[in-house]
Amino acid sequence: MPNITVRGAEVKFPGTKKHSEPVLALSDVNLSIPDQQFVCLLGPSGCGKSTLLNLIAGFLEPTDGEVLVDDEPVAGPGPERGVVFQSANVFPWLTCAQNVAFGPKLRGKSKAEVAEQVDHYLERVGLLPFKDRLPMELSGGMRQRLSLARVLINDPPILLMDEPFGALDAQTRIIMQELLLELWERDRKTVIFVTHDIDEALLLADRVYVMSTRPGRILDHVDVPLARPRNYQVSNDKAFRDLRQSLFEQLHDDAAHSANVA
Ligand SMILES: Nc1ncnc2c1ncn2[C@@H]1O[C@H](COP(=O)(O)OP(=O)(O)OP(=O)(O)O)[C@@H](O)[C@H]1O
Ligand SMILES: [Mg+2]
Repeated sequence: MPNITVRGAEVKFPGTKKHSEPVLALSDVNLSIPDQQFVCLLGPSGCGKSTLLNLIAGFLEPTDGEVLVDDEPVAGPGPERGVVFQSANVFPWLTCAQNVAFGPKLRGKSKAEVAEQVDHYLERVGLLPFKDRLPMELSGGMRQRLSLARVLINDPPILLMDEPFGALDAQTRIIMQELLLELWERDRKTVIFVTHDIDEALLLADRVYVMSTRPGRILDHVDVPLARPRNYQVSNDKAFRDLRQSLFEQLHDDAAHSANVA
């Protein structure tokens, strides 16, 4: 059963005083994502990946078409969709524990229950020893883990992630990717993960949707047949290398085509 459906979605941003031309960011986007699937949206910068994610998150409305979650039209953000952004989304004046406690406290959970859950989720992202530290005392990767714990504690069945590891160095990035894989193996949430990195998409996803240059359309999708549980060693597999090559060619051909048209 698909739990996220995008049908004929178009997003046209209106022109402004300075730039009078409207921007067609997405055109006729169709997606059908079943429960518990890990999906990556792969495409070049500016192709509309964030716009598509923001539609599903309910931060934005389509100018045409529709977005459904569990057969209900999306009418704004909701607790069943947790969002992780590119830069860490934490309150700098709260400690790690207070940051993670924020959601459940808001939902009126008891103090004891919140405290127990906070420890559990901090442990899962490896930050329990830092529970009383402030975000500024953490590294970039640790802050992003804190963001993840803040979202995971609300246990949303759907995780929407917009290049969450884009700002991290290569080593930290692999550690975060493997952490996410480990969390997903256990919880099996529906994940939509935006990236422009082919290797990241292949390491993580069950299915990769390839988007065209603007206006963003879904060009194609590939199913990733690599066995799970996965870690970064999977990038040595022949199947991984073949898929990498074919995705690279697809993105390259589309970029070359749109450069010729422009
Ligand atoms: N609020 C907005 N108003 C006007 N145009 C916008 C707005 N948000 C995005 N756009 C335009 O829509 C297009 C798609 O932007 P979007 O941010 O979705 O791309 P992206 O694929 O996420 O890129 P990146 O990989 O660089 O994050 C771009 O041309 C951008 O300029
Ligand atoms: Mg983006």
